[in-house]
Amino acid sequence: MNKSRLLAAASALTLSALAFAHGKPDDAIDYRMGLMTVIGWNIDPLGAMVKGKTPFDAADFAKHANRIANLSDQIVEGFPKGSDQGHTDAKPDIWANWDDFQSKAKDLDTQAKLLAEVAKANDEAKDKEQFKKVAETCKACHDKYKKKD
Ligand code: HEC
Repeated sequence: MNKSRLLAAASALTLSALAFAHGKPDDAIDYRMGLMTVIGWNIDPLGAMVKGKTPFDAADFAKHANRIANLSDQIVEGFPKGSDQGHTDAKPDIWANWDDFQSKAKDLDTQAKLLAEVAKANDEAKDKEQFKKVAETCKACHDKYKKKD
């Protein structure tokens, strides 16, 4: 293959890779797992503070609450149709009950944004109360739509 044909082949490859960048089910699975992992990373220190395992720190609490609030509206886009196949714990029921799934994602978004709002006031009792509402939305969705580990 001469050099220009090689370049053409290489750029065709790049273009098709780009064209599929948002369409491949595996990309969506990686995306949502990454998103969930980051959300989980940030909820752990909140849970530890709420349970009294670590001392309550209002600034730290607000930092993690803000991160979750900024991520929680991205969940739905990580579950395009057809991404029930592959290495995933997502149950096919998600796509059979799409409206319900979306509304459970919205519940988290609503409660997480409220948590970020509440966390501004530096009121430990209110923070803890609102944290529980957020955690309930995670559980409500996982119980129905995530395979058990
Ligand atoms: C609307 C539904 C929904 C909500 C709300 C939700 N999750 Fe998930 N979560 C899922 C599904 C479905 C999976 C499995 C994804 C997969 O395997 O493709 C998952 C997976 C995870 C994982 C495992 C990621 C991995 O790499 O295996 C963690 C951690 C997680 N969620 C944390 C949370 C936390 C913390 C919350 C609440 C703050 C939350 N999730 C809210 C649906 C949800």
